[in-house]
Amino acid sequence: MQRVEHEIERLIKEIDYDEVTRLFGTLSGGKRLRAKLILKIATNHEQAPLLGAIVELIHAASLLHDDVIDESTLRRGVASVNATDGSKTAVMLGDILYSKAFSSLVEFDKEIAKVVASSVTTLSKGEMQDVKMAQEFNSDEAKYLDMLYLKTATLIESAAVGAALLCGKDAEKHGVYGRNLGLSFQIIDDILDITSDEKTLGKPAMNDFVEGKCTLPYIYLYEALNSEDKQRLENAHAKPLSQSDGMWIKQKMGEFACIEKSFTLAKELSNEAMQVMKDDEELVQILQTMIQRSY
Ligand code: FPP
Ligand code: MG
Repeated sequence: MQRVEHEIERLIKEIDYDEVTRLFGTLSGGKRLRAKLILKIATNHEQAPLLGAIVELIHAASLLHDDVIDESTLRRGVASVNATDGSKTAVMLGDILYSKAFSSLVEFDKEIAKVVASSVTTLSKGEMQDVKMAQEFNSDEAKYLDMLYLKTATLIESAAVGAALLCGKDAEKHGVYGRNLGLSFQIIDDILDITSDEKTLGKPAMNDFVEGKCTLPYIYLYEALNSEDKQRLENAHAKPLSQSDGMWIKQKMGEFACIEKSFTLAKELSNEAMQVMKDDEELVQILQTMIQRSY
């Protein structure tokens, strides 16, 4: 991973603008899941650290824009760039990071560059759907999972496919692995938004629903509630949550095992990924660690 950090540093230096170096330095790097995955798949390939750095810059850019769109003031426990330096700066920093990432893609085979670049179109479509869906109460599980695939899983999928192509491994199998890892990862994120606290999350707890996002546990809850309670849940949607509504939601989710049901789906998706990659111990390990982080 040190080689990835070194490549990131090099790319930022190449941008040659002190303000960008300063602002980038204020970002918390996060788990670097995508880069780790690339290194695990294309371990000995000399271009793997650069591919990892590119994907991490794209991811960082997408989060900068996402925080502007979601009006989030906290990211990974630190103040977001839109909070400290304003939305205009956050958008422009995002633009610089992802265009730099894109221009570095020319170092790779056309097929790899295409997979990574087109996944950014897909994730941007996903973000658009997410914003649109948050305007109304959504109780459609399939629609939610489709959006989740576009918004979160595609970049992880393309990281896995890109790394597989880089070292001549089976791109399709790695694609299935990355897609399911991504979906499962996001479902667990959705669960943690409800079960965890602000200190652990680095952002306010139960914030998804306040932002209008009806994540899987809310969809399962809606399915299980009687019509009067369905109305109560719809009324609480997309606005600051009162303490009593927050407690009521958690209690009802407990009653109808909505967290467990969501976790079961995350586990099924992750098992499917484990199945296609059963011979690769390290990739199986990544899935296991990810599933364990939920409790
Ligand atoms: C986080 O979702 C957001 C994403 C995973 C994708 C955001 C994508 C864009 C803004 C498209 C633009 C892309 C580029 C490269 C500039 P979330 O809001 O559910 O998660 P959070 O709680 O971590 O904010
Ligand atoms: Mg967000």
